[in-house]
Amino acid sequence: ARLAVLASGRGTNLEALLQAFPPGNPLGEVVLVLSDNPEALALERARRRGVEAFALPWRGRKAFEGEALGLLRARGVDAVLLAGFMRLLSPSFVEAWYGRLLNIHPSLLPDYPGLNVHQRVLAAGEKETGSTVHFVDQGMDTGPILLQGRVPVLPGDTPEALEARVLRLEHRLYPKAVRLLLLGLARPPEAFGPLAEPLR
Ligand code: GRF
Repeated sequence: ARLAVLASGRGTNLEALLQAFPPGNPLGEVVLVLSDNPEALALERARRRGVEAFALPWRGRKAFEGEALGLLRARGVDAVLLAGFMRLLSPSFVEAWYGRLLNIHPSLLPDYPGLNVHQRVLAAGEKETGSTVHFVDQGMDTGPILLQGRVPVLPGDTPEALEARVLRLEHRLYPKAVRLLLLGLARPPEAFGPLAEPLR
């Protein structure tokens, strides 16, 4: 399968995906990286590994999605992975890719959607947190859960310490979730009607 990753920032999850799904990998290969942020380290990481990467500077959702869809189609992309992508996609984009569009979020969803997750987890005195890979639907950090992993919250944790622990988990969790998808072992409920065709 041919994979695209959308990332807005430093791209450590992208790096993990590039390692797990390098060019020519039979199960899946990352063939395209797109960012709304021309400064994103993610673009650099992709190019370093010989993967095509484009900045599509944000001029509104319609323009971004138009360009993105064009590239996804042109490169024959089968599944799209959001990895620190900080924009909300439109209902029509999400519907077109439903079942083959994943996101990773650094909490045990449905708890703590949105931003500043680690701060809020610490403030609430949680003993445990984690990360969730989910199928993207029209909400923010909603959509059917594909896979979760857990890590402890330790005494004296700062948001930064917790973030680092969750990130290490994410770098194993996201490739694992993508493998399940590509092997046909994970499918979302048919919220938008049956999938047009199975993943290659
Ligand atoms: C990750 O924690 C991910 O769960 C969230 O944004 C962060 C991205 O980090 N959606 P990175 O850019 O992959 O390093």
